[in-house]
Amino acid sequence: MRGAGSELHAVATFLTDVSVQAAAEATPLVWPEHLPDDAWCMSPELVSLHGLPAWDALDEAGRRRLAFFECVNFFTLNIHGERALMEGIARRLYAKDLADHAHYLHHFLAEENQHMTWFGGFCRRYAGKIYPDRKLVLPREHAPGEDDLLFFAKVMIFELLVDTFNRRMAKDERLHPLVREINRRHHEDESRHLAFGRLLVEDLWRRHAPAWSEATRAAVPAYLAAYLTATWKEYYNPDVYADAGIAAPGAAARVAREAFASEVARARRAEIETRCVRVLRDLGLWPISQEQAA
Ligand SMILES: [Fe+2]
Ligand SMILES: [Fe+2]
Repeated sequence: MRGAGSELHAVATFLTDVSVQAAAEATPLVWPEHLPDDAWCMSPELVSLHGLPAWDALDEAGRRRLAFFECVNFFTLNIHGERALMEGIARRLYAKDLADHAHYLHHFLAEENQHMTWFGGFCRRYAGKIYPDRKLVLPREHAPGEDDLLFFAKVMIFELLVDTFNRRMAKDERLHPLVREINRRHHEDESRHLAFGRLLVEDLWRRHAPAWSEATRAAVPAYLAAYLTATWKEYYNPDVYADAGIAAPGAAARVAREAFASEVARARRAEIETRCVRVLRDLGLWPISQEQAA
């Protein structure tokens, strides 16, 4: 193994040891019977409507109620994202290209499975539900290795975005301790997934892309940029606005569309996705057209 491949192998071996240690030291989460009505469950600045007229019109209790449902949506997105991730990783376990990393992928899978118990446990206990999955996956043909690259690049994008939320909320002393702890634990595990994922994406891209047509190579960054936008759209969930009493169910989709399109929300997304875009750019996986627009 050379270059990114040998570094990847060394990092995966090291991360396996850290994961074994972390699993041995893990303690169960403590679940309170109820969450107090006045608990903050999402940092106000990370709420999708923050800074918009709908937010300004809410009183303090209304803002906390919206933040609770935004937290349920954030945890729901993690559940759906992790389920797709687990399916994809399970399918790839011991595949020829990835067999060398199977030892680490088992830990990756075990950790994602545990994360789903945290996110699912919170949503079921305190909201009595999770929101439906709205993601549409359109089947398409792939060049050799392209499917794996796109899968792991999408995992990385999703984890980078989520991790920015996790890191901020783990430190936010306004939040309920359980919410902070779930964010803290998730960030801790995701740091390892991100270290591995970035090297794996680099390895797959370097190994496979040279054999692809110019058109296939050019389409990959555009596809990933579209995936990032699609992921962001799920942060503006009409069901959240209806549950929080901000909009009647029939009007909630319009609230979501208008919030997503607003300048305030666009600027917030640009700030939150900075790290994600930087990583994609460093890997040569960010579209040149968007470089010029930035
Ligand atoms: Fe996770
Ligand atoms: Fe992860």
